[in-house]
Amino acid sequence: MSSSPRPGFATRAIHHAYDPAQHQGALVPPVHLSATFAFPSVEHGAACFAGEARGYIYTRIANPTLDLLEQRIATLEEAQAGVAFGSGMGAITATLWTLLAAGDEILVDTTLYGCTFSFLHHGMARYGVTVRHVDMTRPERLEAAIGPKTKVVYFETPANPNMRLVDIAAVSAVAHRHGALVVVDNTYCSPYLQRPIALGADVVVHSATKYLGGHGDLTAGLVATSAELAERIRLVGLKDMTGAVMSPHDAHGILRGLKTLHLRMERHCDNAEAIAALLDAHPAVQRVDFPGLRHFPQHELARRQMARFGGMMSFELHGGIEAGRRFMNALQLVIRAVSLGDAETLAQHPASMTHSTYTPEERAAHGIGEGLIRLSAGLEAIDDILADLRQALDRAAAPVRMATAGTTAPAPAASPVDESTAAIA
Ligand SMILES: Cc1ncc(COP(=O)(O)O)c(C=O)c1O
Repeated sequence: MSSSPRPGFATRAIHHAYDPAQHQGALVPPVHLSATFAFPSVEHGAACFAGEARGYIYTRIANPTLDLLEQRIATLEEAQAGVAFGSGMGAITATLWTLLAAGDEILVDTTLYGCTFSFLHHGMARYGVTVRHVDMTRPERLEAAIGPKTKVVYFETPANPNMRLVDIAAVSAVAHRHGALVVVDNTYCSPYLQRPIALGADVVVHSATKYLGGHGDLTAGLVATSAELAERIRLVGLKDMTGAVMSPHDAHGILRGLKTLHLRMERHCDNAEAIAALLDAHPAVQRVDFPGLRHFPQHELARRQMARFGGMMSFELHGGIEAGRRFMNALQLVIRAVSLGDAETLAQHPASMTHSTYTPEERAAHGIGEGLIRLSAGLEAIDDILADLRQALDRAAAPVRMATAGTTAPAPAASPVDESTAAIA
């Protein structure tokens, strides 16, 4: 049995660690809603609390439905163990509360999701942890900055919202030479596209609210790491410091989402490539940040590190924030909303939404443009998405064109661009 090859990604996402024969033949794993669990004797209960016997005690510590999900994320991320949380921020904060103490230092990349940035600067920093930003796209800068107090190196790749990539293997090698642990937020890729632990990272954190759940109907977080670190994060960060436990209902939703992750990610990637090509060729667009574009500065790293280029991108329009506002308000199919990884294509404005936790000066320093628009490619028919984006781009560009031409004529219905020439690789 053990000599047979490991089943493929999709097979593990659907079957791993569950045998219907053990559950009255139920195809779908049961949802264990119980908050507490009965002990056969007081001695057994005491042994469970002492860690001398295995058994469920209370859902904030462990629960059979969460347990199955934790095993699934572990196998998909090529980790030894997983821990489930009530949100991505629950996963991130519980991990960092476990790994850091007063007097320690954490080195983080220059661009981070807004609430992670806020937690570090307005949370951890208040409790004696030094937080320093280093441009992780340049591993030599990490080498220069890292020191004996550095316990954790933390980054997202691609980074939310400006799509900067970090070379996981190169940064992990530097961190490990100096005895620091590497924590990677893999939310943008999901394990289908990128597996940081196989590349040298120690801990992967996820907002499972996004691609893993996949349907925008739950809030959840996951951690994947070694068995030893998972146990520490569970008993310190989850049980005592945050209490950010996942609901068993939501674990069921993610187990269902994982069964189609491989199919959904392929379609997200297909649609994102077509959208990026449209944006890249449209005269209203100043710049597109998408790893699949041949002129994306880190395109080669994307090819090396990611299975495909993902479903996320950001872009700036000529005319800055005002053009962006016109574009956003003209959207009809694409939904104006934060979050990402859903079936619906979503667009949002980081400076006023997900990254409003930064001051304008901090956004400027961290490479988050005031006019930047973030787009999450959904699963709709691509022609419908492209038609909506085209008409919104034409509206965004209209006043610029009219001013240039000195006319009040209405904007053309469709843009005269040749999207087929866009440089998707
Ligand atoms: C990259 C990234 N990490 C973490 C989070 C936080 O996750 P949650 O909203 O599930 O707490 C988000 C949320 O948008 C995110 O985009």
